[in-house]
Amino acid sequence: MKTKAAVLWGANQDWQIEEVELGDPVAGEVQIRLAASGLCHSDEHVHIGDMPMVPPGDFPFIGGHEGAGVVTKVGAGVTSVKEGDHVVLSFLPACGRCPMCATGHQNLCDLGATLLTGQAIADGTNRIYVGDKPASPMCLLGTFSPYVTIHESAAVKIPDDIPLEKAALVGCGVTTGWGSSIYSAEVGPNDTVVVIGCGGIGQNAIQGARMGGARHIIAIDPVPMKREFALKMGATHTFASMAEAVEPITELTWGMMADKAIICVGRMRGEYVAEMMQLIRKGGTAVVTGLGNLLEMDVQLNLFEFSMYQKRLQGSIFGAANPRYDIPNLLKFYMDGELYLDELVTKEYTLEQINEGYADMNAGHNIRGLIRYTEADW
Ligand SMILES: NC(=O)c1ccc[n+]([C@@H]2O[C@H](COP(=O)([O-])OP(=O)(O)OC[C@H]3O[C@@H](n4cnc5c(N)ncnc54)[C@H](O)[C@@H]3O)[C@@H](O)[C@H]2O)c1
Ligand SMILES: [Zn+2]
Ligand SMILES: [Zn+2]
Repeated sequence: MKTKAAVLWGANQDWQIEEVELGDPVAGEVQIRLAASGLCHSDEHVHIGDMPMVPPGDFPFIGGHEGAGVVTKVGAGVTSVKEGDHVVLSFLPACGRCPMCATGHQNLCDLGATLLTGQAIADGTNRIYVGDKPASPMCLLGTFSPYVTIHESAAVKIPDDIPLEKAALVGCGVTTGWGSSIYSAEVGPNDTVVVIGCGGIGQNAIQGARMGGARHIIAIDPVPMKREFALKMGATHTFASMAEAVEPITELTWGMMADKAIICVGRMRGEYVAEMMQLIRKGGTAVVTGLGNLLEMDVQLNLFEFSMYQKRLQGSIFGAANPRYDIPNLLKFYMDGELYLDELVTKEYTLEQINEGYADMNAGHNIRGLIRYTEADW
């Protein structure tokens, strides 16, 4: 079918709205009409060349990996969803059978290995073309298009009564942040938790810390609006930088320092690790959720303090969550009024306004920007 998409033709160029040819689902795939797509910072990493796709399939690139919609077509052998079902797209596929899936780590599913190639999980070919050029969709989803054809393993069925434009956020940002607190940092009632970087991911790490029962939640972000918003999500204290937070955290914890820290800055850098480690106590845990340049190898870390204070440095992808369990689970928390989703979207955009949406994110105006699709797009 013919539809449209926001396409990058190279790093550091504007998104262009192009007509695209989207293939029908082959065996194991589904086609979905999207209601909305969140503007996550991870697409911006591709935009600025931090996270290159695998050549030669790097450009044209179709962005977007945080979406929800209605199944319009199913390929042969699809068993988990049918036409008309409402689904959230999980930015990571989960096959359910590989060693990681089978041991309860669906966020580390072996199918994730293919995500930067642009080639469909089902048959290794491209499903989307811009003119005669095969296109690579972000995370093999490409939600900056009103329709997607994706592998069944990335479509998670949800109840019909949940607003799809809210549910979209759970396909990446909400689950990533919430799980960074609940699963990766294992936040509990005794904990003083620091969240560094309070955008779409960090605000949900704050929500996770609140729902995990943390005693103190310290939000760090240079943007005043983010700090104010963090207080609504459950933060108890806010600071503009890690440096400014050292002394107050020392006082607050009677010199022990925080139990957990989670870093969700827009662009992670190696030197932030040493700064973050200073904020946690002996035996404390520091979680790295933010992404930087894919090739960056240098990290600052005081190795003496690291071993002698027995600190833990923990990476985290998709909040160490199991998408097939956690996506519906978080939406139930939303329906019960415990997880805040309505507040997270600062501004809605049309697909045609995508460059403005990312400019607003980079300028610190948005907690989350959201592309809403309507009849006119479908
Ligand atoms: N690990 C994962 O699975 C995963 C999933 C999704 C996104 N991410 C990554 O998480 C990061 C955050 O994404 P987002 O969508 O929330 O981005 P965002 O742009 O909405 O938020 C980033 C926030 O970091 C703040 N910030 C920047 N530098 C800072 C600093 N030095 N100290 C404190 N705060 C700082 C900004 O003001 C902003 O509020 C990105 O790197 C993104 O790629 C990781
Ligand atoms: Zn994301
Ligand atoms: Zn798997």
